[in-house]
Formats: sequence, structure tokens, C-alpha cells
Amino acid sequence: MASTNSQAGHFITFEGGEGVGKSTQIEMLAKALRALGRTVTVSREPGGTPGAEAVRHVLLNAGLGEPFGPEVEAMLFAAARNDHVEQVIRPGLARGEVVLVDRFMDSTRVYQGMSNALDTSFISHVERLAIAGLKPDLTILLDLPPEQGLARAASRRKPGEGADRFEKETVEIHRRRREAFLSLAEREPDRIAVVDASGEPRDVAKQIWQIVSKHAATRSLAARPARVAGAAG
Ligand code: TYD
Repeated sequence: MASTNSQAGHFITFEGGEGVGKSTQIEMLAKALRALGRTVTVSREPGGTPGAEAVRHVLLNAGLGEPFGPEVEAMLFAAARNDHVEQVIRPGLARGEVVLVDRFMDSTRVYQGMSNALDTSFISHVERLAIAGLKPDLTILLDLPPEQGLARAASRRKPGEGADRFEKETVEIHRRRREAFLSLAEREPDRIAVVDASGEPRDVAKQIWQIVSKHAATRSLAARPARVAGAAG
């Protein structure tokens, strides 16, 4: 698949519900790519720059985000994303790096887009402002039943640390989000690849490596995919 960004690098995002294992898989993929000699930047949203990390704190931890309401919340995610795009992602791609990001625009489409208060044209408009023309070349959607994901998210919390406001929501909401992610994948099958995240991390990593190698075959991301399948797994 051709890059949507006309850049030297390669932009891959990871999406999915709570506790699906995105950060573990991103680390494994980064390791495998570095073993091939690629320079890899790993980042996350909301966050990735000092300003965007400050917005993250407001949105997720300080309990300050919720009273703003869904429109302003979507705009805050967008402001953080735009800063991240311009300060980290676009410069990394211009240097020819592989940029791996934990959550990106599909999270806004699902988490904020599912709020009944916001119409799709508002979400699309905010998305255009946030990404400023930079779409992921590939999105890995880690798919897992919400009960399993929430149990994983709870088990990795440090003692005394509470669930964030999104983790606290009902299983039914998490189920609807899973469906929303899957329907995005149906709409954009060339960009979004669905990966069953219920297996052991090694096995999930192998599935991801196959997708990334296949996707990159035309773009020389991975010169020796067969060897690295072993490294990733
Ligand atoms: P985080 O602690 O990074 O959770 P996870 O490990 O599940 O990624 O928290 C990010 C939370 O922010 C997550 O619940 C999803 C939410 N979110 C949105 O609602 N909209 C967005 O655009 C993004 C990027 C995240």
C-alpha cells in the first residue's frame, strides 16, 4: 500500500479498548524494527509533547476535563494531537523514522464520536484540524472482549492508583466502543488491520509482524521480514 503521507518514514498507530496490550505490542514491534537497523520513535496520545502531556493530565487524571462537556473535550484532544503531529510525528517521518503511536485519531472517532452530543461533521472537522493532513500509513486495531481488557487494565494498576475515568465506565459502553472500532476497520480496510489480542503477547506480536511486513513490502520498511518474525516472537 502506498503511503498516504508522501514522507520518507512510516507512521503506524495502535488502537483498541482498555487493556488490549497496545504498549506491550508497540515495544515488541519497536524492538524488532530496531534489530533491522530502523530508527523508531515511540509515542502516545493524549500526550507525546510537554503541552499535550499537560492536556492529558487535565483530561484523564485531574477530574477537570469532564465538566467542559464533550465538544470542548474533543477540542482538547485535538489540540494535544495537533501539537504532537507538528512537534514529534511529522518531524520523525521527515527524518525517515518509523513512528509508532499508542492511540490517534480513531480513538477520538470512537470515544468522543460515540457521545450522542456530537455529530459526525463536528468530529470530522476537529479531526481535520488535529491531523493537518497526516493520516497513519497503517493502524493496528487490537481487538479483545471488554471483560478481558478491563481485567488486564485493573491488574496492571499500581497499589493505590485508581481507574481513570474512561476505565470506570460500564462494560456495555466498552462493548459499544469495541463495535465502533471494528466498524471503522470495515470502512477503511486498507489502513486498519484487526488483530485478535486474546493470545499470548508473543503470538499477537507475530500476527502484527506479518501485517507490518506485508504492508511495508513495497516501501522497504523491513528488508528481511522472515528473520525478524523470529525476533518479534
Ligand atoms: P491511557 O491511560 O493511555 O489508556 P490506554 O492504555 O487504554 O490507552 O488513557 C487514554 C484514555 O484516553 C483512554 O481511555 C482513551 C481516551 N482517549 C479518548 O477518549 N480520546 C482520544 O482521542 C484519545 C487519544 C484517548
